[in-house]
Amino acid sequence: MDQIESRKDEHVRIALEKDVAASHNYWDDVILTHNALPEIDKNGIDLKIKLLNKTLEAPIVISAMTGGYHLAKDINERLAYAAADFQIAMGVGSQRAALKNENLKDTYSVIKDYDVPLRIGNIGASQLVIWGHKKTMDYIHQMVDMIDAHAIAVCLNFLQEVVQFEGEANAKGCLQEIAKLADAIDIPIIVKESGAGISFGVAKQLAETNIAAIDVGGLSGTSFSAIEHFRAKMHFDGYHARGGKTFWDWGISTPKSILNVGEATEGNMPVISTGGIRNGLDAARAISLGADAAGVAQVMLKPATKSKQATIFEMDMIIKELRAAMFLTGSETVEKLKCAEVDVWI
Ligand SMILES: Cc1cc2nc3c(=O)[nH]c(=O)nc-3n(C[C@H](O)[C@H](O)[C@H](O)COP(=O)(O)O)c2cc1C
Repeated sequence: MDQIESRKDEHVRIALEKDVAASHNYWDDVILTHNALPEIDKNGIDLKIKLLNKTLEAPIVISAMTGGYHLAKDINERLAYAAADFQIAMGVGSQRAALKNENLKDTYSVIKDYDVPLRIGNIGASQLVIWGHKKTMDYIHQMVDMIDAHAIAVCLNFLQEVVQFEGEANAKGCLQEIAKLADAIDIPIIVKESGAGISFGVAKQLAETNIAAIDVGGLSGTSFSAIEHFRAKMHFDGYHARGGKTFWDWGISTPKSILNVGEATEGNMPVISTGGIRNGLDAARAISLGADAAGVAQVMLKPATKSKQATIFEMDMIIKELRAAMFLTGSETVEKLKCAEVDVWI
């Protein structure tokens, strides 16, 4: 295994074996108001949405997690199986490993075997700066071909880069490279944070580019700082273990990030809400704050390491819980859920 492969392997193992959640789950501060007279039938609820011109049968995205080392192929296959079964969106983890090593391509491209309505590729934003525009265009086309991607997520992960021992904290010129990419490519670019959220100011800057959507990737669930803390400990690196612990809870909460992006973009940019979504009720909470879809990562990881059946079971529960929350708020459609009454303690 090369350095990137073993890093991917360690990330997944740590996410499965250790408690890497933010200390507080901010979804507990978002309370949907119970509607004692919903005046709708649960079976009449329509969960369908359109996201980036694709029809999804439920407003759920399986968020970017893996690819690029041997076990990732099975995980991505099981996630794709569930995404196709429920006709929801799915992202793969950073495709950088397969750009470096052809032999790893199938750990991502396996998802092409499944009828996933919205397949999302993934690359770290700092790569765009390191590559420059010309190389970026070439690599992005390779990433699209690899999974027949309908969209590409550019991942902002500077918290991780700054606490990781081999991190590349090159943020200078990032916004400009993202803007150039979004101008030049004919498939939608999603800008995705990966645990530290999006501020009003950053959302405003992104709104001035031609990107197609924002995944707020906020603080609440998986903390990459925590993952890097445990990783550094595994490598007896006290310096980075300390940094990972110090920044464990760094960031803007996912609920606050949704509100920030909604306000900054005046509702004109699709918002995906990833970060701490534990179940369908959290997904409903995210949508009630203005998100178009909810992204789930960690909760899908464990079942996806077991079997297709376990993965299907978890997603089925999430969608059933979302439907139940929609019923109890009297929301017959996802658009109506966006207007549901909600109390927010943030
Ligand atoms: C093991 C693991 C690997 C991840 N790799 C990536 C990645 O390559 N690119 C990315 O944009 N996000 C990545 N993420 C972040 C997730 O997409 C998501 O933003 C984050 O885990 C928060 O969601 P959660 O609380 O549901 O886990 C990864 C998450 C996990 C758990």
